[in-house]
Amino acid sequence: MTRKAILVTGGAGYIGSHACKALSLAGYLPVTLDDLSTGNEAFVRWGPLVLGDIHDVERVRATLVEHDVAAVMHFAASSIVGESATNPLLYFHNNLGGTLALLEGMRQAGCDNLVFSSTCAVYGDAPGGRPMSEDTPRNPVNTYGRAKLMCEEVIAEVASKQSLNPVMLRYFNACGADPDGEIGEFRQTETHLIPRAMMAIQGHIDDFQVFGEDFDTPDGTAIRDYIHVSDLARAHVQALERLIGGAKGRQAFNLGTGDGYSVREVLQTISEVSGHSLPAPAGARRPGDPPRLVADPHHARQELGFAPAHSDLQTIVSTAWSWHRHAHPRGAPASCLSAVPANDVLSKPTASPAAGPVLGVRS
Ligand SMILES: NC(=O)c1ccc[n+]([C@@H]2O[C@H](COP(=O)([O-])OP(=O)(O)OC[C@H]3O[C@@H](n4cnc5c(N)ncnc54)[C@H](O)[C@@H]3O)[C@@H](O)[C@H]2O)c1
Repeated sequence: MTRKAILVTGGAGYIGSHACKALSLAGYLPVTLDDLSTGNEAFVRWGPLVLGDIHDVERVRATLVEHDVAAVMHFAASSIVGESATNPLLYFHNNLGGTLALLEGMRQAGCDNLVFSSTCAVYGDAPGGRPMSEDTPRNPVNTYGRAKLMCEEVIAEVASKQSLNPVMLRYFNACGADPDGEIGEFRQTETHLIPRAMMAIQGHIDDFQVFGEDFDTPDGTAIRDYIHVSDLARAHVQALERLIGGAKGRQAFNLGTGDGYSVREVLQTISEVSGHSLPAPAGARRPGDPPRLVADPHHARQELGFAPAHSDLQTIVSTAWSWHRHAHPRGAPASCLSAVPANDVLSKPTASPAAGPVLGVRS
């Protein structure tokens, strides 16, 4: 029996590649459309890679028709909050402009089902630090969040006027790595807490710091809702099946656990799991960083059957550390760190994403 094809834009990226694996395990054929601007060719392991840009309407249309695609999962985007402050046009061009082109390609191909990668950044600050429901007012405080909100609004507007069935998944902090160690988090520019802490332990960066220790939280550091990337990936399959099954109703879902961990709690767990202490000097707060951002995920639980299985802190950190230690393209076993000066590692050329990093296990 032929497998139903799903177009995964950004399937060579961190979350998109985990979604491809989940799709494949669920019996679908993930077809990745990716320009490899931040993704890795070697992460495309469960279906074909179409090398291209989502702005290319004809490429989108032709890919959808050629593979008889049943639905699109749209991950492709630029997603560095700080960069969106210095280069806002990139974010409107790639995230909003790219989504417009994708929607046009879908319209031309007659493909109506869309799972859209959104973010808790569409909400902005959490009023009183309370868990955020999907009805929390959406007031983004950065350009990245604003561009994603614009995408959501365009998608909802098009869906109200044409045949488009969307579901928008607002993730909180994606983290961890594939429990089988096949794929993980690897970007040329890394801004996320857990991979940066691990890169600091491995000697790949020397500017790791904690942004703010004077928040109104029990240990003074910011609290975030960490959701394991494999749980996110599984939720995408659940959302897809709801769409393909023709369910109507709610279009947006929060994907988080409903619990939060502080930065210090995360770093403590990283030290315990890795067996390495992590010098983490306190830096200033980043502008617009709220003390506590936690999801209210009850709609996703009830309507999608979302049930995080890997999102306890121990599993998140263990899977991420295992990836960093054994298969990360810049990985150096922690046991070898004393023999590898940080500057040496930093000065070595890194694998080009376009060429695809080698993901072999390093002993
Ligand atoms: N990582 C998180 O914590 C998080 C949280 C909330 C939402 N998101 C959203 O999830 C999605 C995936 O994020 P990620 O962390 O996997 O990022 P990522 O950078 O690892 O993956 C993005 C992928 O999209 C590709 N891409 C970018 N622009 C493209 C274009 N114009 N045409 C074709 N391909 C293009 C990149 O090459 C890359 O493979 C993004 O939409 C992001 O906004 C991520």
